[in-house]
Amino acid sequence: MMPWRARPAAGLVGEAPVPGDKSISHRALMLGASAIGTTTISGLLEAADVLATARAMRQLGASVERLATPAGITWRVQGRGVGGLDEPASVLDMGNSGTGARLVLGLLASHPFLAIVCGDASLSARPMRRVIEPLSRIGAQFWARRGDRLPLAMTGASDPLPIEYRLPVASAQVKSAILLAAVNAPGVTTVIEPEPTRDHSERMLRHFGAKVEVETLADGGRAVRLEGYPELCGRPITVPGDPSSAAFPVVAALTVPGSQLRIANVGFNPLRTGLYQTLREMGADITAAERGDGGEEPVADLVVRAGPLHGVTVPAERAPSMIDEYPILAVAAAHARGRTRMLGLGELKVKESNRLAAIAAGLTACGVRVDVGDDWLEVEGAAGPPPGGGIVATHYDHRIAMAFLVLGLGAREAVTIDDGEAIATSFPEFIPLMRGLGAGIEAVGTDGDGGETSG
Ligand code: S3P
Repeated sequence: MMPWRARPAAGLVGEAPVPGDKSISHRALMLGASAIGTTTISGLLEAADVLATARAMRQLGASVERLATPAGITWRVQGRGVGGLDEPASVLDMGNSGTGARLVLGLLASHPFLAIVCGDASLSARPMRRVIEPLSRIGAQFWARRGDRLPLAMTGASDPLPIEYRLPVASAQVKSAILLAAVNAPGVTTVIEPEPTRDHSERMLRHFGAKVEVETLADGGRAVRLEGYPELCGRPITVPGDPSSAAFPVVAALTVPGSQLRIANVGFNPLRTGLYQTLREMGADITAAERGDGGEEPVADLVVRAGPLHGVTVPAERAPSMIDEYPILAVAAAHARGRTRMLGLGELKVKESNRLAAIAAGLTACGVRVDVGDDWLEVEGAAGPPPGGGIVATHYDHRIAMAFLVLGLGAREAVTIDDGEAIATSFPEFIPLMRGLGAGIEAVGTDGDGGETSG
């Protein structure tokens, strides 16, 4: 456990580069491994979650290399073609990553061999039933721990079936697991989602040559249809900055008086920008200039200036487009004038931690008034800096850790988090980046740079 403390800061000013998008990085490695020929990836997120996926793709027979070129770092994947992965000789360890694990289960569901998949304590507590159920219909078999948890063993289908499947929860991970399995199945597979979720898989599958059609349904949902056995061909991919990582410096800039940050090259897919819409409704000064050079994905340069915020109601139907952003939205809400109501949060209970409980407990520890229900949260804003001063339990959850460090930067008193190690799963440069912008974030009980003091 490595505790950190964030002290109230003066203005944060400058450029805040954010790392590559985590969702797109996982998909680039997996589709690269499933394609014929070479996929080159620039901007890949080099964080623990994605490195676990890179390792898994090597275990499945793809060549995955990191190349340092004069133009920067490129990752090169030599794929095996659709259905061409090898049986892994050892266990696939997906670390902390729900996306890595669920998408790999999808990929393997139409490969007729045995695989054993595990993860860390947090991932081993997360539900896998949501992918086991549809992937079993395709023909895969699973032997999972009680409650359908990891570790599990599986054998993929030797004669995969196309399915039509209506998602019981809005989940891009489940949709993507089915689509990855369906690539190696005959006929047309249809996934019906009740509310649109991030469509990175659909965009990237098309980019690699697959036929994917999307129909908007009368009830606002979507039907995604994939034609099986496409010839996937290796392609260059440029991964934009992660809007879910950018969210932390963005809210820091909004809530630390005197701040102004520019964050260039942020993925601005409309199915990921619910936080930015919500912050603007709260009165945030955020400008987003679309770049037009993002290839398959919309990309924008953001400029954010500190200013007052007011409470709003965030409707349940917006949740899929900002599902990872509620911890940091709750921090913004703690600064706002009035109440912020967040609805439709049931899925937060099965993320890297029970985020609904972790947010409520963390804010309470920092003197912020909250009311929490089974799938909703209300935060009573302080109309300025909230008290702070608490010690926050992070439950090895990167987004809880970063959100509460940001709270400490704008609070009246410093905030301590019990452990910052999980930050490396998605944003390893977060603490150095924030310090470079003027934030006082220190390791507790150490010399301030992460090294132990002798005394
Ligand atoms: C992701 C989808 C989301 C999100 C996760 C990444 C993805 O999960 O929380 O961090 O890359 O598809 P769900 O789709 O299960 O809500």
